[in-house]
Order: sequence, then structure tokens, then C-alpha cells
Amino acid sequence: MSNLQISQLISEEQIQTRVKEIGAELTKKFNSDEVVAICVLKGSIMFFSDLVRAIDSDIICEFMGLSSYKDATVSSGEVKMTSDINSSVAGRHVLIVEDIIDTGLTMNYLQQNIKNRNPKSITTVSLLFKPDALKEECEIDFYGFKIPNDFVVGYGLDYQGYHRNLPFIGQVASLN
Ligand code: IMP
Repeated sequence: MSNLQISQLISEEQIQTRVKEIGAELTKKFNSDEVVAICVLKGSIMFFSDLVRAIDSDIICEFMGLSSYKDATVSSGEVKMTSDINSSVAGRHVLIVEDIIDTGLTMNYLQQNIKNRNPKSITTVSLLFKPDALKEECEIDFYGFKIPNDFVVGYGLDYQGYHRNLPFIGQVASLN
């Protein structure tokens, strides 16, 4: 087990309230159209499962495996697809659901990758956004919270595989 000191940054209640707000905005945007929602594994699992239930549209749930971190707290600078979605997105509305925008590399990779498959539209959403960590400009249509450039865990986000099951977002006080 990891011995991180974790302090709560965003509470479970704050997350649930914000997720419902974003869900309502996306419901308005999609206007009952069918949408292929892509969950970026593994960090987005909690946000994705709450968000899709807060959107009133026909949603096809898809899962994509990407890795940019190798048991570290800094980006390796390289994004790799480890597993692809099963549905074709050509001519369909796509919603990309990310846990956090840090350097922006992953979101840029995703947008380019999906764009190459000729979707009808791409909408991007990330629960968290660290503006001070951005290395590449990237387009985010919706985000939940702007946070400082510190490592965070919980609600899907991990440190070396741990802490994804915390119901809140916690700031890591010290890394052992
Ligand atoms: P980016 O490509 O640097 O924007 O990083 C995106 C991915 O890095 C996210 O989807 C997360 O999985 C991971 N990541 C970035 N910052 C954190 C953090 O503070 N805690 C846990 N994972 C993070």
C-alpha cells in the first residue's frame, strides 16, 4: 500500500454537483442526438460512469486504453494506445471524457486520433484542468475544476495504481 499523505481538495459533494451541471449542459448541447462517449482508461472511469448517467441522450459507451505515465508523477511525454474502442465513430457525434488535462498531450493525441476517423463532431470534457502544467495548447469544451499544478489522486486518479477508489479528489502532500 502507498503511504501518501493526502488532503482533500475537492469533496465528493462538489464533484457530484459539478458532474450534474456538466451533464445538463451536455444534454442541452446534444439535443437528444446519439453520442459515442469515450471513457479514457483508467483514470476517467468514475467521472465517466457518473457523467453518462447525468446526460439525457442516447449514449453508446466506449472505452479506450491510453498510457502516458509509467508509475511516475511526471508525464513520459509519449502517449500510447493500449486498447481501442469497438465502435466506428465515422459520421457520429463523439464525446471524449478525460479525468485530467495536465500537459495536454493526451487530449491532443485523442482529438487527432478521433478526428482521423471522420466523426460528425467531437466534444471534449475533462473533470480536472491544470492550466499551469499545459505544454501544448489543447481544446477543452467543458471542464469540472481548475486545480493547481500539484499531483492529485482519487475519484479514478491514481498514484502507482492506488487511491482510485477515494470518493473525493485529494492533493498529495508528500510522495514517498
Ligand atoms: P497529460 O497528457 O499530461 O495531459 O496527462 C493526462 C493523463 O496523465 C491523465 O489522463 C492522467 O491519467 C495522468 N495525470 C496527469 N496528472 C495527474 C495527477 O495529478 N494525478 C494522477 N494522474 C495524473
